Amino acid sequence: MNVLVTDPIAEPGLDRLREAGHDVETAYDVEGDDLRSAVADAGALVVRSGTEVGREVFEAAPELTIVGRAGIGVDNIDIDAATEHGVIVANAPEGNVRAAAEHTVAMTFAAARSIPQAHGRLKQGEWAKSDYLGTELNGATLGIVGFGRVGQEVAKKLDGLGMNLVAYDPYISEERAGRLGAELVELDECLAQADVLTLHTPLTPETEDLISSDELDRMDGGFLVNCARGGVVDEDALAAAVEAGTLRGAAIDVFADEPLSPDSPLLDVDDVVVTPHLGASTHAAQENVATDIADQVLSAFRNEPVMNA
Ligand code: NAD
Ligand code: MLT
Repeated sequence: MNVLVTDPIAEPGLDRLREAGHDVETAYDVEGDDLRSAVADAGALVVRSGTEVGREVFEAAPELTIVGRAGIGVDNIDIDAATEHGVIVANAPEGNVRAAAEHTVAMTFAAARSIPQAHGRLKQGEWAKSDYLGTELNGATLGIVGFGRVGQEVAKKLDGLGMNLVAYDPYISEERAGRLGAELVELDECLAQADVLTLHTPLTPETEDLISSDELDRMDGGFLVNCARGGVVDEDALAAAVEAGTLRGAAIDVFADEPLSPDSPLLDVDDVVVTPHLGASTHAAQENVATDIADQVLSAFRNEPVMNA
C-alpha cells in the first residue's frame, strides 16, 4: 500500500511501515492541489498538526483507508468528511503526554520567573537583575482547565512543587479530580482562584474562545499558560490583558493560526513568552507517537481493529 506522510514524524515510525512492505512517500509542506495530487493513490495519510486535512483531501483520495495523526489533537482533520468517505481517523493519545506536561511546567516557570526575557537581555550584555522579581509557585494556586491526560500529568508535577490545585472540566467527576489532589470547580471559580491558569482542553466548538476578555478580567494579576490548542484563547484579548497588567504574564505554545504571523499582537508584549508548538517535541515523544501511529496504520491495512480511532 502507499502511505503518504505530510508532516515530519520520527524515522522509527517510517521504518516500521517500510519493513511491513509498504511504500512510504514523504511530502512536507504540501497543500492545495499539491496535497490533493499527492494523496490520490494513498492508502494511508499520516500527519501531525501542520497539515489541514479538509473535505477536499478525502474527495481526492479514493484509496484512502486511514488518516493517522501522530499526536493527540485531531482538530486539523475534518472528521465528518472522513466518516462520509468511510475513512478511519486515528490518533496517538499517549506517547506525548509527558512531553506536553513537561513543556507546560517549563512554560509556567518561564512566565513566573521571566526567564526568556532576562536571558535575552543578558545575551545583549545587560545585567538586568533588579528588573526581575518573580512569582514563587510553592503555595500558589494552579487552575487547570481540562483535566484529561495532560492536565492530570501537569497536576501531578506541579502538586509536587507545592501548588494548590483547582480544576474545571465538565466531563469528569469530583472523585477523579480529588484522587489527584484537585478540587473540581466551575470555570468562574477556577479563574478567580488561579494564580496560574493552564489550559488542557481539545479545540472544539465549545472550547473555541473559551478564554476571552471577560475571563481574563477575572484572573486579576495571574499568569496564563496555553500548551493545548490555539483558538481556546482569544489572542487579541490576551495580548491586551497582559499589556494592561490585568495579567502578569502568559506563556503560549499554540496559536489559532500556525505558523504564528510576525504581525501577531502577542509578539509585541514583553511579558508574553512564546514557543513554536514545541509541547510534543522531544525525541522520546516523537518516537512514541510515530511508532504508535504506524502500528495503527498497519492494523487498518490488515482490516484489524484500530486503537484510538
Ligand atoms: P484529553 O482528551 O486526555 O483531555 C482533554 C480534557 O478536556 C478532557 O478531560 C475533557 O473532558 C476536557 N474538556 C473537554 N471540553 C472541555 C470544556 N469545554 N471545558 C473544560 N474541559 C473540557 O486530551 P489531552 O491528551 O490531555 O490533550 C489536551 C490538549 O493538549 C489537546 O488539545 C491536545 O491536542 C493538546 N496537546 C498539545 C501538545 C503540544 O504540542 N502543545 C501536545 C500534546 C497535547
Ligand atoms: C498534539 O496534539 O499531539 C500536539 O499538537 C503535538 C504535535 O503533533 O505537535
